[in-house]
Amino acid sequence: MGFGNTEWFTHDRFGMFIHWGLYALPARHEWVKKREQITTEAYRQYFERFEPDLYDPWRWAADARAAGRKYAVLTSKHHDGFCLWDSALTDYKVTNTPISRDLLKEWVDAFRTEGLKIGFYHSVIDWHHPEFAIDDIHPQSDDRAFREREQGRDHRKYTGYLDGQTRELLTNYGKIDILWYDFTGPEKSRESWRSEALVTMIRELQPGIILNDRIDYPESADFVTPEQYQPSEPPTRNGQEVVWEACHTLNGSWGYDRDNLNWKSPNLLVRMLIDTVSKGGNLLLNVGPTGRGEFEPRARETLAHIGDWMRLHGRAIHGAGPSEFEAPVDCRFTQRGDRLYLHVLSWPMRHLHLQNFAGKVAYAQLLNDASEIRMTEIDPESKAQNTHMPGSAGELILELPIQAPDVLVPVIELFLT
Ligand code: GLC
Repeated sequence: MGFGNTEWFTHDRFGMFIHWGLYALPARHEWVKKREQITTEAYRQYFERFEPDLYDPWRWAADARAAGRKYAVLTSKHHDGFCLWDSALTDYKVTNTPISRDLLKEWVDAFRTEGLKIGFYHSVIDWHHPEFAIDDIHPQSDDRAFREREQGRDHRKYTGYLDGQTRELLTNYGKIDILWYDFTGPEKSRESWRSEALVTMIRELQPGIILNDRIDYPESADFVTPEQYQPSEPPTRNGQEVVWEACHTLNGSWGYDRDNLNWKSPNLLVRMLIDTVSKGGNLLLNVGPTGRGEFEPRARETLAHIGDWMRLHGRAIHGAGPSEFEAPVDCRFTQRGDRLYLHVLSWPMRHLHLQNFAGKVAYAQLLNDASEIRMTEIDPESKAQNTHMPGSAGELILELPIQAPDVLVPVIELFLT
């Protein structure tokens, strides 16, 4: 694996992904140009009307922090090729739209000042650049006349553009913590991006930066990026566990998608976060701001719920990781030093049985309100009778209230001896 310092990353655990660009205007998924085979000429109307007048990155940063995020990754450019910064290498950029400001720069300033680490998502795919070699992923891939006309494209020129824009992003915006390239389709390879040279340059410009794994150059990656699924166990490379970050949407789309109602509940999202950290991973949870430049109400509401949970349970996530102990049914463990966090996904009736924990826990409390959870061990010889539970060797029993605490997922903090 790579060379960047992932220590802060595996400590922080929870980041915010932000997909924002022209596709916020059609509001039909960030792949709308491909899905509807929109030509570059027809897509131009969004460029001419991009004017997010309500954009306030300070408010975004405050929302991110309140929702427990420690870092954030913004789309500098998505597959449609539109650049959210004032690139000297293209006209297809935010400063030439009606808003006419370097929105990426404003974002960097706000998020940095608010104490968040920052990264850029940068699409190596480009559906706008005139020299990008057409492949089956391209919006006009089925247009034979177009393909014939564009046969002579010189993809090397695009590679130079990718290189130059990467240089801009890593030179003009101060320290960048993460570079998140996306992605290498079946007809492209590390040759298409000159990945080795690119990575050498990146490491020179930003020695501490960490890189993801999507430019077909696994040796350079600092972390891997399972997308829209929860790994059933920690991912490995050559038999070794690797640093990983799951990325997820709120509703199945990365860009703002007005009519998509496939919203994940805050409860599911919190369980995904717990599950991820219990397996040693990070979660990069997305939001797709609107064309006015805001997180829409449905997203803000979800973030607020997650924030409520994180305010009380952050110490079971930040700085925490997997545990050697095996979690009981319907539970997950995360651990930070000698504190073991028992996330109870389904609240049982009165007792939680921890096998092989006898003598290992000095104190237990509910994390949300620091109220004591009493513990018992029953003589292994004693038999079940009426209201008496049988004993079981090595078992520690937690005595739970009938009423679960009113939080999305209750957590019991166990102080190990
Ligand atoms: C994908 C999609 C893209 C999204 C990304 C996030 O590869 O092409 O739209 O930005 O994943 O992980």
